[in-house]
Amino acid sequence: EKAGHRHFMAKEIAEQPVVLADAISRYSTAEGALNLPEGLDFTGIDRVMLVACGTASYACHVAKYWFEQVAGLAAEIDIASEFRYRDPVLSERAMTIFVSQSGETADTLAALRYAKGKVAKVVSVVNVPTSSIARESDLSLPIHAGVEVGVASTKAFTCQLGVLALMALKAGADRGRLEAAALAAHLEDLRRLPGLLNVSLALSEPVTALADELARARDIIFLGRGAMYPLALEGALKLKEISYIHAEGYASGELKHGPIALIDDQVPVIVMAPRDALFEKTVSNMQEVMARSGKVLLLSDAQGIEEASPGVWQSLALPEVPPVWAPILYAVPAQLLAYHTAVAKGTDVDQPRNLAKSVTVE
Ligand code: M6R
Repeated sequence: EKAGHRHFMAKEIAEQPVVLADAISRYSTAEGALNLPEGLDFTGIDRVMLVACGTASYACHVAKYWFEQVAGLAAEIDIASEFRYRDPVLSERAMTIFVSQSGETADTLAALRYAKGKVAKVVSVVNVPTSSIARESDLSLPIHAGVEVGVASTKAFTCQLGVLALMALKAGADRGRLEAAALAAHLEDLRRLPGLLNVSLALSEPVTALADELARARDIIFLGRGAMYPLALEGALKLKEISYIHAEGYASGELKHGPIALIDDQVPVIVMAPRDALFEKTVSNMQEVMARSGKVLLLSDAQGIEEASPGVWQSLALPEVPPVWAPILYAVPAQLLAYHTAVAKGTDVDQPRNLAKSVTVE
């Protein structure tokens, strides 16, 4: 059942190129058109509100950047346990999007019930199409990741991102922000991503070589800017869940507002820096870390590494990727770092202590 892998998590990480390709091809055509459910219409919508817990909430956080950048649509994010009790202001022109692998997370379901009837449409993005969240939504989009067994969510995250990316493109098209040619170009880029994920899986080997040293760390910091900021949060969550190492994700620009005080030669700092418009800024934050003897592990493409690597402790080269979709690709090394570090520590990767796969009580 683990298909030759040592853990379900390893199997599920390895499945990502296939399941992501499946998810994308179900909601788009090879000819460059979207194929989303008819009810998903952003005409007249002035705001999307994305709500979820844990890893699903980081998928929402990435999607916020996409809805703003690709569709020019205001996007808010919230974690479900806050949203449900916070008296959030809703309106008939808002669309709420609830994201959940299991579709049974108590807080996300309660948040959905709060929004029902108070917004234009309650949409969900789920892995289990028969789940409560799917059934109670006005419209539900399955992510087609297949059964996810490992408590640490991996393939569900990348498929959530894939589906949310397509939804952001639909919003762009509905709002007249994306011409047919631009849409087709984005779709072509998205359809090429599973192949790039496949290439990134080869990082398993160099990551294994780093894992012993990472496993000895007491604290690990992840940094990213723009849509890579939520990936830094996700990398830190994944690592702490299964290796029990204290990890924090920060927006690179926040570094000097506090976290830089933690840096010394014992603290690995994992910098997620695809060569996008913010690359130079992230590199300069990284240099601030190195000036304080921080051990930087740089994730970028080959050219980024060549430009920025003097002085870094280690680097991992990813394929080049259109910057907007980089978060989907960089999810893979984030997962591999957590996985191999946990294996090096000898923790129970698939069933980490204190955690449940589906959190059905608040
Ligand atoms: O089933 P859901 O996607 O609603 O679950 C949400 C979180 O409980 C979940 O993502 C959790 O954070 C994972 N263990 C992360 O790996």
